[in-house]
Amino acid sequence: MADLDTTLRELAQRFEAAIAAARDEHALDEVRIRFLGRTGELTVVRRGIGALPPAERPTAGKVINVAADAMEARLAAARASLERASIDASLSDSIDVTFSGPPARRGMLHPVRAVMADVAHYFSQHGFAIVLGPEIETDANNFDALNIPPDHPAREGFDSFYLRPDLLLRTHTSPMQVRAMRASGPPIAVIVPGKAYRRDAVDARHLYQFHQVEGLMVGPGIHFGHLKGLLTGMMRELFGPAQDIRFRPSFFPFTEPSAEVDVSCPGCGGAGCRTCSGSGWIEIGGSGMVHPNVLRSVGYDPDGVTGWAFGCGLERIAMKKYDVNDIREFVENKPAFLEQLA
Ligand code: DAH
Repeated sequence: MADLDTTLRELAQRFEAAIAAARDEHALDEVRIRFLGRTGELTVVRRGIGALPPAERPTAGKVINVAADAMEARLAAARASLERASIDASLSDSIDVTFSGPPARRGMLHPVRAVMADVAHYFSQHGFAIVLGPEIETDANNFDALNIPPDHPAREGFDSFYLRPDLLLRTHTSPMQVRAMRASGPPIAVIVPGKAYRRDAVDARHLYQFHQVEGLMVGPGIHFGHLKGLLTGMMRELFGPAQDIRFRPSFFPFTEPSAEVDVSCPGCGGAGCRTCSGSGWIEIGGSGMVHPNVLRSVGYDPDGVTGWAFGCGLERIAMKKYDVNDIREFVENKPAFLEQLA
């Protein structure tokens, strides 16, 4: 038995040396044949079992089998590592991992989205909540509660998409004033960005689906000066510190007094150019002090609280900011337009 152990140990050493010297698959095959083949070294040892005393034969058989299994496993491992090495070698030949690839194409926010985010950011810094409302609205919220009763001529101004006699695609974000005030008591300060719809013919300045941002602040002692200060700050955030705004007397059923909001023209800085039709100003939205009837319609007491509201067209602001002359560009997704923005 001691002889067998010695024989196997020496055989294993020779086997290890042969494996270490094998440089390719073919050489490994030869190692296999030399040790485990029909006339291989281990096979010869196995054949020698017959010459042992019968009592020793089973143990000797087991020891030889264990040695054979170990050698097979070693061969398989050596084969796998040769394979890995040859894959690595072929990769480092053909792929330069330090070579810089083509530049990645970067996306950007849609200009209307970007303006929306800027406005929301500005107002949330000033303590306003950002709220969203449904695009399908009741005509009670879209009109009645905003002091536009059924036969009011202002309804004509909004060419509406009606879904049912009492339901429409909201024509402005203003009905969210009503929902927000009903949902919480005064004081309230909210910003409502979102889509609005009007049955307008599409041209360079009109889309039937567009975006607005509504602002509303109601509480004891809220006055027009708060509106002026915040809107000026918002426009300066969007267009830089030199930006001016002005209010022009106007009429909206849901505000009294009412004012249209203009921003000084970026193209000419107020001197007058084609963009602003020579006036030096661009109209961007409407505003005013919330009408007492609107406060009443949501259960607020007009003797206890006052407030202002405004509504701006986001496409209008984006056109000015990105120097876009045709509002249709925002929805046509023409590569040339998008690439020039990026
Ligand atoms: N809702 C108006 C529109 O779409 C814009 C507007 C005017 C909103 C005055 C207001 C406001 O909140 O006070 O034309």
